[in-house]
Amino acid sequence: MIRALFSASDAAWPEYLEAMPPAFHAAGLRVDLSRDHAPDIVDYIIAAPNGPVQDFSPYTRCKAVLNLWAGVEDIAPNKTLTQPLARMVDTGLTDGMVEWVTGHVMRHHLGFDDHINGQDGIWRETYPPLAQDRPITILGLGALGAACARLLTTLGFPVTGWSRSQKTINNVTCLSGEGGLRTALTDAQIVVLLLPLTDATKNILNAETLPLLANGAFIINPGRGPLIDDDALINALKTNIAHATLDVFRVEPLPNNHPFWAHPQITVTPHIASATRPKTASQCIAENIRRGEAGEPFLHLVDRTKGY
Ligand SMILES: NC(=O)c1ccc[n+]([C@@H]2O[C@H](COP(=O)([O-])OP(=O)(O)OC[C@H]3O[C@@H](n4cnc5c(N)ncnc54)[C@H](OP(=O)(O)O)[C@@H]3O)[C@@H](O)[C@H]2O)c1
Repeated sequence: MIRALFSASDAAWPEYLEAMPPAFHAAGLRVDLSRDHAPDIVDYIIAAPNGPVQDFSPYTRCKAVLNLWAGVEDIAPNKTLTQPLARMVDTGLTDGMVEWVTGHVMRHHLGFDDHINGQDGIWRETYPPLAQDRPITILGLGALGAACARLLTTLGFPVTGWSRSQKTINNVTCLSGEGGLRTALTDAQIVVLLLPLTDATKNILNAETLPLLANGAFIINPGRGPLIDDDALINALKTNIAHATLDVFRVEPLPNNHPFWAHPQITVTPHIASATRPKTASQCIAENIRRGEAGEPFLHLVDRTKGY
């Protein structure tokens, strides 16, 4: 019998208690899933970064820590976590992000706000451009960025993506490295941030890079708040940036007196772009436990030197 410890919030437990056993069964695993196994009998920890286990050192026989979130910036630096750490890649999480990003891209692309907020009796016949004339750049071409890029190309948008290592994705102009970043941002009309938060990505949109975007550009950030320098963004909203839709922030929940809430060119959404879905996430976790038991390499391992 494999013993798995569930270390996440009280609220998450009932859904996972229902979703995990069928996934373990389908993977041919017999797993005793509990919230209070003694540390020295635990084979795997299924963990949220804000879960009750913060000191991983007593879990001496634990073969892997399986993160419930895609982002690992709050768990990867934990010095007591010496076991392999896998991040969450969940089809439900990916689908949710693709839907959210596409929805917000279409809002800005089609200019919905003009009509929703402009019911003033004046007949203004301005047509939105076609998708083919609206270049979009996606920073980060991982599980989420690549899925968004693929969907947006099917709608006709010219999509450029940027990542650390060079990628090849059908109909997407893939760039990498420092020079690639400048090219990716120059004249982009919509920029979507789907990078992890690391030392290398912090403030990647800043006073030097924001002016590269096209006049009237839109920014959509479901990645992490510190990817954008907040002050530089506020300044850029006075020049070339028309609007920023932000789902993530340096401090969450965003304090209710924060200037972003009332800024007419900022839309705040409360870190809801996408969520791990217990049913599909359980399949990702079960597959990694199956691999661990079969002596196969774990999927989606975090590279601690890169920070994601
Ligand atoms: N708002 C929400 O609800 C929500 C939900 C889930 C996730 N997220 C955020 O979305 C992020 C992305 O998730 P994911 O699953 O797509 O992650 P991922 O698969 O690890 O992909 C990360 C991408 O960023 C690239 N990258 C990382 N560091 C870079 C650097 N220094 N320069 C250039 N490219 C760099 C990676 O390049 P390589 O491919 O070359 O490694 C990769 O393409 C998460 O880390 C999390 O912060 C937000």
